[in-house]
Amino acid sequence: MQSTYQLIATAAFGLEGIVAGELKRLGMRNVRAENGGARFEADAAQIFLCNLRLRCADRVLIILGEKPCRTFDELFRLVESIPWEQCLARDGRFLVSGKCARSQLMSVRDCQAITKKAIIERMKRGTGAKAFPETGDDYRIDVSLHADMARITLDTSGTALNRRGYRTWNGEAPLRETLAAALVELSAWRPGMRLHDPCCGTGTLMIEAAWRAAHRAPGLTRAFDCEHFAFLPGAEMQALREEAGRDVDLGRVGTITGSDIDPEALTLARRHIRQAGLEGRLTVSQTPLQELTLEGEPGVFLCNPPYGERLGEKKQCEALYGDMGRLVRRHPGWSLCAITSDPMFERCFGRRADKKRRLYNGRLECEFMTFLPR
Ligand SMILES: C[S@@+](CC[C@H](N)C(=O)[O-])C[C@H]1O[C@@H](n2cnc3c(N)ncnc32)[C@H](O)[C@@H]1O
Repeated sequence: MQSTYQLIATAAFGLEGIVAGELKRLGMRNVRAENGGARFEADAAQIFLCNLRLRCADRVLIILGEKPCRTFDELFRLVESIPWEQCLARDGRFLVSGKCARSQLMSVRDCQAITKKAIIERMKRGTGAKAFPETGDDYRIDVSLHADMARITLDTSGTALNRRGYRTWNGEAPLRETLAAALVELSAWRPGMRLHDPCCGTGTLMIEAAWRAAHRAPGLTRAFDCEHFAFLPGAEMQALREEAGRDVDLGRVGTITGSDIDPEALTLARRHIRQAGLEGRLTVSQTPLQELTLEGEPGVFLCNPPYGERLGEKKQCEALYGDMGRLVRRHPGWSLCAITSDPMFERCFGRRADKKRRLYNGRLECEFMTFLPR
């Protein structure tokens, strides 16, 4: 279709800069973080590479059109000017989502309907077909209006990128894999160091850390919508997947362990570890944090403890944060990194964090705190 594409890798609020960094390391051009993601330029094969290798982004979208639109006519003309016949298969299912904010056009449903109508009109003109059965592969198109600027995108990811393919059931309060990967990146841990998650739940942080250490692409075994886009090079995408498979080196994983008080969460963690191809590399045990004592080289405790949204639970959680302070004090040389929405965390822990970063866990405003060894 074209040689250079304008794209956006969408990301949770607070992770835009991290995703921009990942894109630069992957060799993408003109990368710049903005609210809700990072924009960049890439060629066709690189679109697939981003889906395969980005750890912290939610989706990779091609920007097909962008222009101020204050009327439905303007929106129709913008959408109709896009060469849809080169992007979409004739039998494709055209799924149009939308969002509107601070704009003249504020009816999401009408914007979706206009967009779909303009796509069909353009497809009729471009292909000569009179009807489109929509029985084939999905094409997810989004129309978004923000401050009267319309943006039309085509989703190349399909299922969101946090779905790595190993998780069968979510457990009580699992961390999104993309946020877990960002916490690994922001933490004091680096591949080769010892890592322990003392509230490991279903094992998300451990798996993300291990995959990073092993150079295991997060999308290695899952499919992406762009794989059925005729305008992207099938053979090159296949070659990139094979190369990613060859890159995996489980020998680099090092000592990554976890513990939790809940046996059901640990059953899920063991299943996820197996399904993530890490059986025998990561170990978990049923140990209350209060009793945890680790021997050997120091490392990093990395965890997503409970926050306790209800009053009774909050007291219990705050007692647990005190136990986390004691855990670090009985492990000289260890750091502790934790994400929490509780403003009392540091007071309960027993000292101020050496580093803090504001992040969102879903809709919850949180801080990611790092306590370095004293
Ligand atoms: C928010 S969840 C962690 C979820 C995890 N990050 C995941 O992705 O599944 C908090 C975990 O802390 C565990 N927990 C609560 N109190 C604990 C304690 N005293 N000792 C160890 N684990 C505890 C809970 O069982 C729960 O699995």
